[in-house]
Amino acid sequence: MSEINWVASVSRLIAMTAKDFPGVGAVVKQARALVPPSKREVAKWEAHVLCCIARRCNSPGALFLEIGTSNGYSAALIALSAPDAKLITLEPEQFAFPYAKEHLSSLPNVRVVNERSWDFLDIYKGPQLDFVFVDGTHKQVMRDFPWWNRLKIGGLILFHDYNPERAILRPCPHVWAAVNLLSGYMHPPEIMARNPGSRVAMAGFRRQAGEVWHGVDL
Ligand SMILES: C[S@@+](CC[C@H](N)C(=O)[O-])C[C@H]1O[C@@H](n2cnc3c(N)ncnc32)[C@H](O)[C@@H]1O
Repeated sequence: MSEINWVASVSRLIAMTAKDFPGVGAVVKQARALVPPSKREVAKWEAHVLCCIARRCNSPGALFLEIGTSNGYSAALIALSAPDAKLITLEPEQFAFPYAKEHLSSLPNVRVVNERSWDFLDIYKGPQLDFVFVDGTHKQVMRDFPWWNRLKIGGLILFHDYNPERAILRPCPHVWAAVNLLSGYMHPPEIMARNPGSRVAMAGFRRQAGEVWHGVDL
């Protein structure tokens, strides 16, 4: 059974998130005050949904990973929604990295790392993760799938821009195809948040016992 299946207009989606996490509006405002707007950041309703999901994963000692910090907006949303968890957020661009660090410097539970997701995976020796938010190189999103094996059983991986070719906003056929493949390989997503008007969505999976990503021959 799905855990979240929110398919609605933008205003309705935002109302649903406020019901799920009453503090969400305050968190979004706080994140905005820390991080100036950028074209690459998650949209307003996606920000609300991301907060709800991070909130659900919040627990003392939990460890989160974000792939793709950019300016730091989504990292701020996640960290403020889950104050008991620690977040590692990856930004490989030399230009973006110092800005992200500066914007997130007041959040004690965030570490910004200047690495690509697949390089960081090679050197990562930390504990299994509670939550992974994937928003890096969309065309190469499958290179982020090995992070599945670094999730705890019950841990959650969430993909931004699960948008088909025919999406009105931000078509992302690579993410669409890859997430569909993952769904067939593992199981259908437990988390679906979608705006049918724009055909923009986020999809999330909880790792179940015995599920290992071994890769596929394409
Ligand atoms: C769409 S932006 C992220 C926006 C951010 N999540 C937000 O909502 O505020 C994508 C970012 O991912 C970074 N990126 C690209 N490839 C990456 C990789 N392999 N690992 C980590 N980050 C990557 C890019 O430099 C870019 O800043």
